[in-house]
Amino acid sequence: MEFTPIAKCSVTNARVARMVLAHAETTLPTFMPVATQAAIKGLTAEQVESLGVTLILNNTYHLSLRPGVDILKEAGGAHKFEGWRHNMLTDSGGFQLVSLSKFTTITEEGALFSSPFDGEPTMLTPEESISIQHAIGADIIMQLDDVGNLLQGPRVQEAMERSIRWLDRCIQHHESSGNKDKQNLFAIVQGGLDPNLRDECLDAMLERKDRVAGYAIGGLSGGEEKDVFWKIIKQCADKLPEDRPRYAMGIGFAEDLLVCVALGIDMADCVFPTRTARFGVALTHTGPLNLRLTKHAKDFNPIDKACPCPTCRDGTSRAFINHIITHETAAAHALTIHNIIISAHFLLDTLEIVVYPEWCVNALRSVGVDLLENM
Ligand code: GUN
Ligand code: ZN
Repeated sequence: MEFTPIAKCSVTNARVARMVLAHAETTLPTFMPVATQAAIKGLTAEQVESLGVTLILNNTYHLSLRPGVDILKEAGGAHKFEGWRHNMLTDSGGFQLVSLSKFTTITEEGALFSSPFDGEPTMLTPEESISIQHAIGADIIMQLDDVGNLLQGPRVQEAMERSIRWLDRCIQHHESSGNKDKQNLFAIVQGGLDPNLRDECLDAMLERKDRVAGYAIGGLSGGEEKDVFWKIIKQCADKLPEDRPRYAMGIGFAEDLLVCVALGIDMADCVFPTRTARFGVALTHTGPLNLRLTKHAKDFNPIDKACPCPTCRDGTSRAFINHIITHETAAAHALTIHNIIISAHFLLDTLEIVVYPEWCVNALRSVGVDLLENM
């Protein structure tokens, strides 16, 4: 991977960087749409490409269950299988196992779960996760991490410490494979909402800097208080090295994207924008709009006047989406396109803002960044 910071905001820690991976060049900051089952729901690969998206996220857990590693290997990897010519990142599977299955047990060896097909006990080890990600062929692969399931208490410390040990196993397995130069391994900082545990994790993972291509901040999309979450992002982003990309996992609400970029985050992903689109909700600069509501039946405005997406540009009105949303799948396609593009713009807005909105100034002040002082 080639990673070059190009410019830094003089007021916040927002930055622009160039990341060159095996399939494409991606300009950061970027929002990664999620293709859980190897496709962005509602869009073809060609449509995603036409939006200018150059990096998408796939899931190791889902792809290893279906179509499975054998088919992916036979297809020549997930890029060829799904017709995607640009960059791809795969999450490692641990988070999905914990969030989707009540019966997953974490042991030192790995994550033990019962197969959703036949109930058979199945173990996902750090080595196995890396091997599956090698078969998928993603440009960025994530370490298997122990996400714990609580934000505080002894389990958080245990999960953080295990994530460090699992990182070492992932590094070892990745370096001893033939994929080291094609695929880039990212570490995931854990430690819940405890600044001391985060700091310990950061120290340990920074010691491995020469052996990882980038850093993610995990364990944060669990509904915690905003200012606590933003403080952890700031603590991690401040300590992570300038010359490695910083990825906030599972982050996708508009205000979070804006604040995270201002704190120095380069990459984010979330199913929220594409999922909420399928329920008829359009994201806008003034908040989410539920276009299923009859109050939009005579609203001939575009979804968001400031949005450059094809749906808003071609004159599609809120009234039209309201008319077709329960009848035609085209509404979900149009809103998915809109929500992906506007989410990317929420990230990029941070770089163009001259006067920050008051709520953002307050959000940044709550984590100790005083915009006025910095100017
Ligand atoms: N997605 C959202 N949060 C996390 C996390 O903590 N770890 C992993 N692997 N994926 C995530
Ligand atoms: Zn739009």
